[in-house]
Amino acid sequence: MLFSVNDMETKLCIPIVAETVEEALEDLRNAEQYADLVELRLDHIKNISKQGLRELIAARTKPLIVAYRGEKAEKRELLLEAVEAGAEFIDLDESEKNMINDVRKKGKTRIILSFHDFTKTPILEELKQKYKEMEGYHPDFIKIVATATSINDNFKIFEFLKDKKKCIAFCMGIKGVISRILAPKYGSFLTFAALKEKKVSAPGQLTAMEMINVYNVKNINEETEIYGIVGAAAEHSRSPQIHNSFFHETSENARFLSFKVEEKELKKFIDNLQKYHFQGAAITMPHKVAVMQYLDEIDETAAGIGAVNTIVNNHGRFIGYNTDGYGALRALKDKTEVRGKKVLVLGAGGASRAIVYGLRKEGIRVTISNRTLEKAQQLAEEFYTDFLSLADAEKRASEYDIIINATSQGMGLQEGETPLVNLPEKKVVMDIVSYPSITRFIKLAQQNKCTVITGEKMLLYQAVQQYHLWMGKELNSKVLENARQLLRRII
Ligand code: ATR
Repeated sequence: MLFSVNDMETKLCIPIVAETVEEALEDLRNAEQYADLVELRLDHIKNISKQGLRELIAARTKPLIVAYRGEKAEKRELLLEAVEAGAEFIDLDESEKNMINDVRKKGKTRIILSFHDFTKTPILEELKQKYKEMEGYHPDFIKIVATATSINDNFKIFEFLKDKKKCIAFCMGIKGVISRILAPKYGSFLTFAALKEKKVSAPGQLTAMEMINVYNVKNINEETEIYGIVGAAAEHSRSPQIHNSFFHETSENARFLSFKVEEKELKKFIDNLQKYHFQGAAITMPHKVAVMQYLDEIDETAAGIGAVNTIVNNHGRFIGYNTDGYGALRALKDKTEVRGKKVLVLGAGGASRAIVYGLRKEGIRVTISNRTLEKAQQLAEEFYTDFLSLADAEKRASEYDIIINATSQGMGLQEGETPLVNLPEKKVVMDIVSYPSITRFIKLAQQNKCTVITGEKMLLYQAVQQYHLWMGKELNSKVLENARQLLRRII
């Protein structure tokens, strides 16, 4: 019996990448809990026999694609055996198009004719030409898989898919991930996800759990609004988890992706976001300043800070905002009264600017300290505040009520570093570094009985303000509490 398939809806397909029939049977059982369709990669199973293949086909409880990549003598016979045994689909490489007639004679199995480009994404005209050529062989589905060398390649696939039916198309590679997630929006018949990290069958594949739990991919449709974080290392950002949890809990038909964008790709990427009606974006390192020149308008706070961390698509116009200062202030106010307090801000980079701006707006006295003293001086002059060398900050830290680390020390490669070693007792100490959550700076503060505010608070609250800008409404305390718990789990 063939399992029926609705050809008009995107299916989540999990490839079975196993070395033995027993392992494949186990993976099949697990994959079928999440997958709409399962793809059996015969080339991975060592010494697969016709009997083993039949056993696997008979065991399926979901529609099955049988595929064999690479060249081996057994391939043709095994694929025809799969047809005879009643597999719903077989995947034939373009070079195997001469098998189409034999497959048709043998059974009702539908044919996916596939083309792979492992080095690039061809230009749109070439993609269309390839499709036309393959259409000439009358397969049931056409699959075109390219490789993204730039995030902008994904948009070629979105454009290509526009008027296509019974077509599977996406980009492989880390820069192609968004085409896999957005397959249901643009109408690719299949999107592939791995059973687990070790079972990835092609580069860029996310796990099925991530596709389902973070991106809720089965409920993405044409109308789904798209947001995302734009950054050079955006794949490491926790913003997708935070924003997708906000969207999920407030029942918005919206998703938040990560956009790994290099400096040289930024202009075209922002153009693409606008052209494809993405609803908004978060901006992170190193694009917060550079992105400003590509926007239609900059709001007052972002202009004051001199950097944008949020884009809002307002009827086609892209407006730049900055929610970092708001995030920092709200994180502080959760734990302490800020009015009348003396604040020491360590660092004079982008994050520091946003925080100093936010504090000054509220009329709070700030002193800026930085490794490069001239930068502290410049910032202090711009915002009419004081500045200090780091050595002096170390000596005079006890004069301040609130001390904030706005340097990158403690983060990633700088883990274990701290901008100050001698932290005074019983102060309020905040770190903007959210990964790791407990930095050395925070540890020192805890040892000195300070009230501490860790970096994920600012991360959370700047995201809350982004949600407000995008959706025009506030998040309730239950959604916030859930996001807090989620952050605690993932950081
Ligand atoms: P961000 O946008 O995150 O603020 P940035 O603009 O690159 O990033 O700023 C990084 C801040 O961390 C700067 O204040 C930097 O000091 P310099 O202006 O002297 O470069 C500070 N910083 C980075 N590494 C540091 C280190 N090892 N010791 C002291 N300060 C450091």
